[in-house]
Amino acid sequence: MTTPDGKPDPARPDPFRTVGAAARPGPGVEIAALSDLPDPGAIVRDFREGDALFSILLTRRGDVVRAWRNMCPHARWPLERPDGRVVVQEGRYVICSAHGASFTLEDGRCVAGPGLGLGLQALPIVVVDGRILAAADA
Ligand code: FES
Repeated sequence: MTTPDGKPDPARPDPFRTVGAAARPGPGVEIAALSDLPDPGAIVRDFREGDALFSILLTRRGDVVRAWRNMCPHARWPLERPDGRVVVQEGRYVICSAHGASFTLEDGRCVAGPGLGLGLQALPIVVVDGRILAAADA
């Protein structure tokens, strides 16, 4: 990732070099407060362990709250814009900031743009007392 002037952003290293499962939050770790997530909307939360970065996209539409690996299946870019915002169109689709692929908030399917027919990688979560927590893989 880069800063607005185009220089590497030390606070958010290049995900191509640093994405790593080592930084994935374990079951029970809070990813975000439910109140942080707009409805409808999407936010990104990053977790770090050493040089590893594990970035999570959270989406919400009504009662449907989902978590995804923040990695577009088209070319593996993160989905958010350089300023950190996630573009949600028509309250239904996350738009990848790299090349414009559209993913549904509810099931992560790519319904338009490059990557059509692919999907985001779902991550297990539970919502407890207004907190979105990582859960164990099934
Ligand atoms: S990396 Fe997302 S559309 Fe190309």
